[in-house]
Amino acid sequence: MVDHGRRPVSRKAPWWSLFVFCVLAATASAVPPRNHAIVSAHPLASEAGRLVIEAGGNAFDAAVAVSAALAVVEPYGSGLGGGGFWLLHRAADRFEVMIDGRERAPAAATADMYLDANGQVVDRASIDGPLAAGIPGVPAALAHIAENYGRLPLAMSLQPAIILARDGFPVDAEYRRMAEWRIDALRASPAAAQQLLVDGEVPPLGHRLRQPTLAATLQALAGGGAAAFYAGDVAQRLVDAVRAAGGIWSLDDLRDYRVVERAPVELRLPGNRRLLSASLPSSGGVLLAEMLMMLDQRPSVELDAADRVHLLVEVMRRAYADRARFLGDSDHVHVPLAQLLNRGRAQRRVQQIDMHRATPSTRAALDVGEGQDTTHFSILDREGNRVAATLSINYPFGSGFVAGNTGVLLNDEMDDFSAKPGVANVYGLVGNDANAIAPGKRMLSSMSPTFYEVGDVVTILGTPGGSRIISMVLQGILAADGGEPVSTIVARGRFHHQYLPDRIDIEPDALDAAVVEELQRRGHAIRQLDRPYGNMQVVRWDLASGAVDAAADPRGIGQAILFDGARRQVIGAAARRQAP
Ligand code: GLY
Repeated sequence: MVDHGRRPVSRKAPWWSLFVFCVLAATASAVPPRNHAIVSAHPLASEAGRLVIEAGGNAFDAAVAVSAALAVVEPYGSGLGGGGFWLLHRAADRFEVMIDGRERAPAAATADMYLDANGQVVDRASIDGPLAAGIPGVPAALAHIAENYGRLPLAMSLQPAIILARDGFPVDAEYRRMAEWRIDALRASPAAAQQLLVDGEVPPLGHRLRQPTLAATLQALAGGGAAAFYAGDVAQRLVDAVRAAGGIWSLDDLRDYRVVERAPVELRLPGNRRLLSASLPSSGGVLLAEMLMMLDQRPSVELDAADRVHLLVEVMRRAYADRARFLGDSDHVHVPLAQLLNRGRAQRRVQQIDMHRATPSTRAALDVGEGQDTTHFSILDREGNRVAATLSINYPFGSGFVAGNTGVLLNDEMDDFSAKPGVANVYGLVGNDANAIAPGKRMLSSMSPTFYEVGDVVTILGTPGGSRIISMVLQGILAADGGEPVSTIVARGRFHHQYLPDRIDIEPDALDAAVVEELQRRGHAIRQLDRPYGNMQVVRWDLASGAVDAAADPRGIGQAILFDGARRQVIGAAARRQAP
């Protein structure tokens, strides 16, 4: 279930890696992490990762356990019916890879499948119900990570999730809020209503939500690996349920799904700084590299608050414009990466920024969804193995459709394609032919699991939040550059610009009124949001001292756990938000 075509693949650490590790450790004089660290968007998922490491697993086994547990306890963010990107760093030989478990369009998909007879996009057709679902990648990716990078069998790493699905977990306020938001889509799917609601209503706080059919599918995956999901009985039931409800999946679509190992986007910057982030079909790494190259030409640290926000917004605008114009699945379309990642181009573009006036994005304003979907977790084990993973089923609770008696809630990731050039998706993102729908193609993503190194300090970070993911990770990186503690990195107020709509979205209380006024004077349209966004999870390791720190975003209910045998420190998402 893996396509090896895109990069040289390295599997289990080879025999000589211990030698390499000793040499590297001696030359780099890295002090091993004092603790294991896991931070995810849900305490029960962080706990699942801890159990697996304490049973002898490594960070990669923990990543499998956390991903699977999130599929159970945070079904509004990710799941077996979705996809994701897992960025891995193996300490033994410093091998780094992005596991691409992104969904693919089914073979029967067409470029105009969401358009009506007049060529207009049909409202919600790519958001609700099984026609909105791409072929999932999570089950294949979990099996792949366990087999090639883990130390434990897949079945062992899936065990905590199976127990959570079988015995249930208490419904929390976040679950209720998300279910309320997607109640219509969940009610429209009888299996979803049965599994995720109580008598057609949002379950009460503390209700023990049991998902026995999902437990059975997880058990099948544990026993039979990816083939147990993508072929045979489960595959047949998935396809039957999808087709009966108007979807277009086939057994061949499932059988042909492949995980891809890809080289991450890497950027080295002065000051011994290094970015490693998600490559296409995520736009995250490309945009982060573009923005950091521009900011390197014109650093923002010395600027006053209004100048700094103005500069960052203009940099975001330019990078997101490239996203709309050039980016798509590079296995299907030509993407001019060398040009986009050229430092000379970044220099020319930043020189064009007028520090006194906003540069108009020129096209019409469109609305942006709230961006509370998706999930991110970060893991570091005591060997120095690292995982940054961002997973999604797109909109909260995905398509809202549970496929028959499989317990699998399907994504609505097809909405991340450009249904029609220039027409915005649910996040207000526009695209063109590069991201048009085509059979077997992966839809462009914004998920940006990232490692950022400054000298001896490694920061592992990422967040959900749709189109705002990339600008959030940028602000996290700049905070890391400034040496801020992890609790501040996750808590600081956020702002966002994505080229179109041509306006700055600002979190409540993120910017002073005087700064906002000055930005308006320079011609920026401002939208003050009434809710915070994002859910960043950060781990940091100081290689010089071995110190490890972690923090969960106070906007969510996540939890960081630092542990080492008998000692355990649990850090809830309780820090106060800070102004930038
Ligand atoms: N579904 C959100 C993303 O992949 O960007």
